[in-house]
Amino acid sequence: MLERDPIEPHGGTLVDLLVSGPEAERMVEEAEHLPKVTVNRRELSDFEMLAVGALSPLRGFVGEKDYRSILESMHLEGGLAWTIPVTLSLDEEELKRVGRADAVALVSPSGGAPLAVLQVEETYRRDREQEARAVFGTEDTEHPGVRALRDAGDFVLAGPVRALRLPEHDAFRAYRLTPAETRAAFRERGWRTVVGFQTRNPVHRAHEYIQKCALEIVDGLLLHPLVGATKQDDVPAEVRMRCYEVLFQQYYPKDRAMVSVFPAAMRYAGPKEAIWHAIARKNYGCSHFIVGRDHAGVGDYYGTYDAQRIFEAFDPGELGITPLMFEHSFYCRRCEGMGSPKTCPHDDEHRVILSGTRVREMLRAGERPPEEFSRPEVAEILIEAMADRHPSA
Ligand code: ADX
Ligand code: MG
Repeated sequence: MLERDPIEPHGGTLVDLLVSGPEAERMVEEAEHLPKVTVNRRELSDFEMLAVGALSPLRGFVGEKDYRSILESMHLEGGLAWTIPVTLSLDEEELKRVGRADAVALVSPSGGAPLAVLQVEETYRRDREQEARAVFGTEDTEHPGVRALRDAGDFVLAGPVRALRLPEHDAFRAYRLTPAETRAAFRERGWRTVVGFQTRNPVHRAHEYIQKCALEIVDGLLLHPLVGATKQDDVPAEVRMRCYEVLFQQYYPKDRAMVSVFPAAMRYAGPKEAIWHAIARKNYGCSHFIVGRDHAGVGDYYGTYDAQRIFEAFDPGELGITPLMFEHSFYCRRCEGMGSPKTCPHDDEHRVILSGTRVREMLRAGERPPEEFSRPEVAEILIEAMADRHPSA
């Protein structure tokens, strides 16, 4: 048991936007009479992240100065490193409805009582082209992040948020730890150094390998799968969770590794998202963060190691979390073990490397990927899930 947290949140204070007690009762009532703004699924994830302090020091959706500063310099107006603007969109009609209100109530896409009260500081026009180029490095609407941006409203509503409650979830209740809770869990286990692992995929042998390489040099591992919106052909979070559970039961040391979920939506912003992911994991209490090949990438918009190189653009220490970089890892039949070009001298013919597309094809056909690629227990779950999604006629 550690007395205090060894890792400071970004900006020094862990944000907690939830109001409670009589103040909450008063605000619930106030919210009834405010103009309502319905957030979309991605914004709901951002709201949850803001509310629990995963995006510390942000206390709400960013204003125009921060927005510009993030896009132009990868820092907030005040100088802290930050790479992805966290915004709340309005279309023209919503903008009219908000009018000159001082505050609005935020409502979940599934309706229900207001989630939060946002104190309106400003509304401004989004700069779609600049945002697309700065965040995604492209304006191509084939890119899922650019597409989401294209579909977002033209205007942005900014201001601090007070959360009345967190979004309700049926899935993964036991795994929904807030940053305060993961920090407490690390302290309880006596972990001084913890490596965070972001993923939107099932854990295959290469993922397991880099996690365990990292775990050789730190006290604990936080497997932190993203469970917000992902693109259509990514494996659904419920299915992935079953894979993580079976792996944890059979292949991970219980006193050295834990799983908990990351509520964010996936942006597919590659390098910019790698920095953002790292900062958020620092808020969850991690001292180290894994960045492998094409982190948060999609298609071939980013170079294989761009998401590693971007860390050099920041002064040592300003991110406050240590990235652990890994090269493309695989099983090598000559080495009879996992490795990467850094540790394995053999040719590709000896290496078990499968593209995501190829693996999906195999699974859909009910074919098990080789054991060197995916643990059989994991392959089993994926094949079954594929059969359920694509029942043969
Ligand atoms: S994502 O969120 O970064 O898109 P993904 O699940 O694909 O998630 O990868 C999780 C992490 O593992 C990322 O840091 C990624 O760079 C790394 N990674 C994935 N596959 C490999 C691999 N074969 N070798 C090295 N790193 C990998
Ligand atoms: Mg909207």
